[in-house]
Amino acid sequence: MKKAIYPGSFDPLTFGHLDIIRRAADIFDDITVGVLDNHTKTPLFSIEERVNILKEATKDMPNVKVESFSGLLVEYAKNNGYHVSVRGLRAITDFEYELQIAQTNKMLSGGELDTMFLTSDVEFSYLSSSGVKEIASFGGDISHCVPEFVAKLVYEKYNVK
Ligand code: PNS
Repeated sequence: MKKAIYPGSFDPLTFGHLDIIRRAADIFDDITVGVLDNHTKTPLFSIEERVNILKEATKDMPNVKVESFSGLLVEYAKNNGYHVSVRGLRAITDFEYELQIAQTNKMLSGGELDTMFLTSDVEFSYLSSSGVKEIASFGGDISHCVPEFVAKLVYEKYNVK
């Protein structure tokens, strides 16, 4: 069985993330979305909220599960039998950061964890969670960026709309 992990912060989940999840779920038998519980950052959504959002958004995808993880991705991958990490690439600006993470994980895992990149659909190449938060904080329209139920939750966080 071919399985992979798609790690990220997902703060919040965007249509770009969902597109990567759908396409990875077509390639692998099982995909786990690994939501990073990072104590050094203060996310807009708690780890429980992010996991619940992802579960709701992927409920029609039977081979996708959602888990949280903390600490090193390579440790989580080793303990749970993942040898492939999936990441999305939007533009050349993502490449250096992503290459560094991929090579660090390869080194830290002793070659056991590979990274597979899926290029973002051009429709979503401008999309980022931080952009979504900035637009929403000023009351802008994020309906083209995130699912409707996520937009509602984001606006609630900023007390807008
Ligand atoms: O959505 P993001 O914030 O770009 O995702 C980054 C993520 C979660 C993939 C990366 O920060 C990560 O895997 N962090 C866990 C800690 C770790 O393993 N660090 C070593 C690799 S840089």
